[in-house]
Amino acid sequence: MSQYKEQIDKNKLPQHIAIIMDGNGRWAKKMGNQRIFGHENGVTSVRETTEAAAELGIKYLTLYAFSTENWNRPKAEVDALMNLLVKTIELETPTLAKNNVKLLTIGDTSRMPKETADRLQQCIQQTANNTGLHLILALSYSSRWEITEAIRSMVSDGINGNLATADINETTISNYLSTAKYPDPELLIRTSGEYRISNFLLWQIAYTELYFTEVLWPDFRKEDLYQAIVNFQSRERRFGKTSEQVTQ
Ligand code: FPP
Repeated sequence: MSQYKEQIDKNKLPQHIAIIMDGNGRWAKKMGNQRIFGHENGVTSVRETTEAAAELGIKYLTLYAFSTENWNRPKAEVDALMNLLVKTIELETPTLAKNNVKLLTIGDTSRMPKETADRLQQCIQQTANNTGLHLILALSYSSRWEITEAIRSMVSDGINGNLATADINETTISNYLSTAKYPDPELLIRTSGEYRISNFLLWQIAYTELYFTEVLWPDFRKEDLYQAIVNFQSRERRFGKTSEQVTQ
């Protein structure tokens, strides 16, 4: 029996949910195991969350799988994590393809080993025509990297005569980000009781509702996602207006 699922208002679903999956290392340590054991168990949570989001009819799910800063972890952990990521994605791609899930990535994949990036690209190709849930994996991603890249492209377009200063507005900037094709997330979840954004989607979360849970990522299940959505739906989103204005 699901305590939260039936409380979800299907007419008020967020279109886009973003998740900072945190706590794998602490979960493993609690179990007296190596950090990678936590990442391995985090895969089950990724699968459950993706399935729950697809079943509900959520259009976009963005998962922070590997940050630019994660490259600074011990080499053994980076290698193991990269390996796990690409192996898992390859293993899950047929299921994603069958369930109409479109796999996408954001991030600086040029920093990945070429072989890993190529394998990833093949998986992306296999789901390219799907129209259901867009599963966006943030890999080698950080928001400041993304904003820096956007500014670089804008300046370059400006110099080439393809972008006039007067035409730069918020929409223009959004269009230069790696998330240009996706709506901003309405809900951002972070697990493991940490209250930080950690360089994730800084521009895109201007009006996003933030939800923090103590649950460590490897323990995160469908029910935890439902709970976050129910909590989200209980909030009044005012976008800077007064309560009276938005309830009229
Ligand atoms: C954060 O926990 C988690 C990560 C850096 C990696 C997330 C990766 C997975 C769940 C693997 C599978 C993912 C996909 C998309 C197939 P942490 O290591 O920072 O934990 P800690 O804060 O307890 O140390």
